[in-house]
Amino acid sequence: MAGFLKRLFGGGKQGVTVPGGATIEEGTARGVDIGDPLAGGTRVILAKVDGEVFAVDSRCPHAGGQIQTGPLEKDRFVVCPLHRYFFDPRTGHAEGVACAPVKRYRVVTRGDDVEVFV
Ligand code: FES
Repeated sequence: MAGFLKRLFGGGKQGVTVPGGATIEEGTARGVDIGDPLAGGTRVILAKVDGEVFAVDSRCPHAGGQIQTGPLEKDRFVVCPLHRYFFDPRTGHAEGVACAPVKRYRVVTRGDDVEVFV
């Protein structure tokens, strides 16, 4: 029960509003800095798939490359350009390769904005 409540309310994590985050184009990814990445902040990649916005960490779990922004591969995968691994932003799982999943963050849509729990 405690685990369920924790997940329901963002796992105790801070929700950060990204203005206009829900308006990104379908099949694209956009980078957003949550705080200063050079001072403990996080760079998050927002990706819209099937009308829903998902958030993943910008750091690739393979070898630390930076997930790219722009059009999604096959309209649904974010891509790390270093070795061209594809990740499904809905699940975080790598596509077709043995690799740890990319870290995902919970997203709540509020009109044109999204709240990302980092
Ligand atoms: S570092 Fe991202 S695919 Fe290798």
